[in-house]
Amino acid sequence: MTSSARAVIDLDVVGDRISRHIYGHFAEHLGRCIYDGFWVGEDSTIPNTRGIRTDVVEALRALDIPNLRWPGGCFADTYHWRDGIGPREQRPKIANTNWGDVVESNHFGTHEFMDLCDLLGTEAYVNGNVGSGTVQEMSEWVEYLTRDDDSPMARLRRENGRDEPWRVPFWGIGNEPWGCGGNLSPEFYAEEARRYATYCHDHGENRLTLIAAGANEDDFEWTRVLVKTLVESHAANLYDKHPYQAISFHYYTHTGSGINREDATTFSDEQFYDTMAYARDFERVVRGHVAVMDSYDPENRVSLVCDEWGTWWNAEKGTNPGFLFQQNTIRDALVAGIHFDIFHRYARRISMANIAQTVNVLQAMILTDGEKLVLTPTYHVFEMNKGHQDARALAAHVLDAPATTARGGELPLVSMSASTKEGAALISLTHLSADDECEVRIDLRGRGARVVRARVLGAESATTYNDADVPDRVEPRPLATALDGGELVVTMPPHSFATIELALD
Ligand code: AHR
Repeated sequence: MTSSARAVIDLDVVGDRISRHIYGHFAEHLGRCIYDGFWVGEDSTIPNTRGIRTDVVEALRALDIPNLRWPGGCFADTYHWRDGIGPREQRPKIANTNWGDVVESNHFGTHEFMDLCDLLGTEAYVNGNVGSGTVQEMSEWVEYLTRDDDSPMARLRRENGRDEPWRVPFWGIGNEPWGCGGNLSPEFYAEEARRYATYCHDHGENRLTLIAAGANEDDFEWTRVLVKTLVESHAANLYDKHPYQAISFHYYTHTGSGINREDATTFSDEQFYDTMAYARDFERVVRGHVAVMDSYDPENRVSLVCDEWGTWWNAEKGTNPGFLFQQNTIRDALVAGIHFDIFHRYARRISMANIAQTVNVLQAMILTDGEKLVLTPTYHVFEMNKGHQDARALAAHVLDAPATTARGGELPLVSMSASTKEGAALISLTHLSADDECEVRIDLRGRGARVVRARVLGAESATTYNDADVPDRVEPRPLATALDGGELVVTMPPHSFATIELALD
């Protein structure tokens, strides 16, 4: 069956800039993300640059990834950075108590991470340790990374082979303090964040954006306490700038039965729709955090960061459950499409987002299998959408779309966003029907336009995925488009994601 939908885009109503950092990534010392994912070591037979996998770097460079968060996650609050510097064979081993209870070699540390950022052409988002660390430890890590001259930490860095300071624009003050980051109350953490932030200095030319660790999903009270403490301390003139500049939150998608409860590749239509409803509910959550922040910070001086998002399914059978290795289907790609539409709509307040995680963990871009590398459907959404980075959001509305019911509410089956930069526009469409195709007619207003390229990501079934045997089952393919007067007409296959690139008159 073919359903129909109507939408409108005002090509001349240009809104907020969509920060490229919304397309950020996350690499934790968890399972096979770092070891066996990014890092194989210099002696590996797998081609590498100073121990970092070449094929992984090449695949990620094609995404223009703007920032990479490291070393956690929960791991961040057990990580002591001095364990990961100096000659590798002399670094102490530690237990990774959060993830699989395995022994961590510390072979991938600060220098290796900054080298990875250089190879990827991306910016560093380092997450410091509040839960089991100290203010001094965090302060010295900032100094080690970013200070020139001959201060004690700059000297130590030089002794370890790096002369120039690095540029580190983003710094996280702990992670999930309501849970693995210390089981703290919001009031206690708000004070701690302010204290830690005070000693994370801007050395030389480096300017840190300090990010306080925020809420789980729709815990708006956590955000309220953080933003209130921040704004009040600023108003009391305790600081000449806000002690931290951003507040984060985390949102993982599943069917509603909880994280880590259902299979990544085997699911019913009902579970598919429940997943889509959970992903669309992200908009309510964002709206709530934004409303709380608006009420204390109407001038938009503190930004919102979603530094963990994505699907969380059961670990694949036969793998260590603590490694969170999951396959990635069309369903995951559509979850990504829905999230990006929401990020674009709230670009005024949201300055950054980080998918969890980049390689071999949760909703990954890349899965590695020995020497083989698989690009997931989610990878392709990031690639198809990369033109939104630093573009201006366009007024884009779905007026009329088929809907179904899921998780007790109405689930509209078409999601859309659009942006413009440099005389071009990019439209993203996510179609959620499990069975039907949908003719989408988009009224393009305000400027003339012609289609430069249109691509669609889909497959026979929403359960389809790529693997080492067949790595190209899911890949973007050309999408037919027609311009009918001022209307752009496309037919979206069932459960598909598409991007349409326009040149504007
Ligand atoms: O991404 C996996 C884990 O999920 C992170 O370590 C933690 O912050 C979150 O609970």
